[in-house]
Amino acid sequence: MSHIVILGGGPAGYVAAIRAKQLGADVTLAEMDALGGTCTNRGCIPSKAMLRCAEVAREAREMDQFGVEVEFKSVNWAKVLQRKDQVVSQLRKGVEFLMKEHGIRVVQGKGRLVEPHVVEIETEGKKETVKGDSVLLAVGSTPAKLPLPGFDLPGVMSSDQILEIQQIPESIVIIGAGPIGVEFADVFNSVGSKVTIVELLPRLVPLEDEEISSELARSFRRRRIDAFLNAKVLGVVERGGKRVVQFEADGQTKEVAAEVVLSAVGRWPNTEGIGLPEAGIEMNRRAIKVNARMETNVPGVYAAGDATGGILLAHVAFQEGKVAIANALGQSKEMDYRAIPSVTYTHPEIGSTGLSEAKAKESGIDVKVGRFYFRAAGRALAEGHREGIAKIVVDAATHKVIGGHVIGPRATDLIHEVVLAVQMGLTAEDLGEMVHGHPTLSEPIKEAAEDALGVAIHK
Ligand code: NAI
Repeated sequence: MSHIVILGGGPAGYVAAIRAKQLGADVTLAEMDALGGTCTNRGCIPSKAMLRCAEVAREAREMDQFGVEVEFKSVNWAKVLQRKDQVVSQLRKGVEFLMKEHGIRVVQGKGRLVEPHVVEIETEGKKETVKGDSVLLAVGSTPAKLPLPGFDLPGVMSSDQILEIQQIPESIVIIGAGPIGVEFADVFNSVGSKVTIVELLPRLVPLEDEEISSELARSFRRRRIDAFLNAKVLGVVERGGKRVVQFEADGQTKEVAAEVVLSAVGRWPNTEGIGLPEAGIEMNRRAIKVNARMETNVPGVYAAGDATGGILLAHVAFQEGKVAIANALGQSKEMDYRAIPSVTYTHPEIGSTGLSEAKAKESGIDVKVGRFYFRAAGRALAEGHREGIAKIVVDAATHKVIGGHVIGPRATDLIHEVVLAVQMGLTAEDLGEMVHGHPTLSEPIKEAAEDALGVAIHK
């Protein structure tokens, strides 16, 4: 029986472990912290639990428009944290249960490669050596830290630390307007903090389609979230009991002060101190270099998830873990990144996949673009959602759907229709002909697809 040793029990590692068992292998998984990794314990899940509380608080204040008269008192932050911890704990126990059910041997401790196929796991001073036929490195990432003055000051927090903040800050500056930055901007604005974003690039969520960034910026402005764009942070100082973020924008040095600063400027792979150079593993800066089969340059050693520095998303890690295991156990699989969904849980939510209009044009593809606004969709209007747009990018020559960009209610769920279309090579006609329930939030996608062909009905 083949034996697979996995370093890391996050989305890449634990999913890989289960798949390896399903394919008949024996598995040892080393985890130095908690099963479930960043996603379950310090990322996707706790932030979504907080975002839901934020949404309820916001809706409670807006009840009046639905004719429901309630008096909004306050947000009990201690309860918000308690609920978040309960959600995390339940999900972590779920992963622990899955490991037991599948007979996966989990060793609590830090693993390190001592030879390409030999891992040493250290637990409280005790060392265990495990040899595998293959090894999967699924060691994840940690919040990146800007090498600038003041980032060690108390009150300057990473995304890990902000999840444990004990009180609602009266004001917060968020450095970075990627998914982490904008999600926390949403949370703290909804619970009453004054939020200011400082972003290096010219727009919020800079990796999204430009129209999506503009729609989010409009929504954030309406909610009085301030944003400084094209703003390069120089450092943080303490003054008058506050943290003052200094940055350069419009050729000037500017400042913004707040009780708390959140640094959300990306994540770094956890690749130090685990024997990678000694084992001859080729790196791409801090990330482990892999091919589409998730193989490193050393035969039998695979890597998956954030440690490979590609697309840092839990659902990408799930798939990379499965691809690595398939190859380790004699199958032949490659990662296909064409239709990865990107999902950001702001209000309004963002879901996107495939190529943006700009990226498609850059690649020399002649495109047709269709749009539909949620305010013209019956279900959205009935539910009180007036913001949002669905945008479909179609190859002009073949009418194949090559990208989708949705900002609006449930966009993170809705985008999967476009994911399927891109993955399966469906055309705009296919989406238009597919009967969509009425009234549903999915209709803007169908209408946008028809709009790309110039035949939208409700536009
Ligand atoms: P990110 O790399 O997406 O965004 C960081 C932002 O910080 C960038 O827009 C960058 O221009 C800006 N920045 C960098 N240095 C700066 C400076 N000196 N001053 C001002 N701005 C600066 O990283 P983020 O948001 O920290 O997320 C980390 C990873 O986790 C990402 O790959 C993201 O996709 C993933 N993630 C995804 C989520 C989701 O999809 N819902 C949620 C949370 C994280």
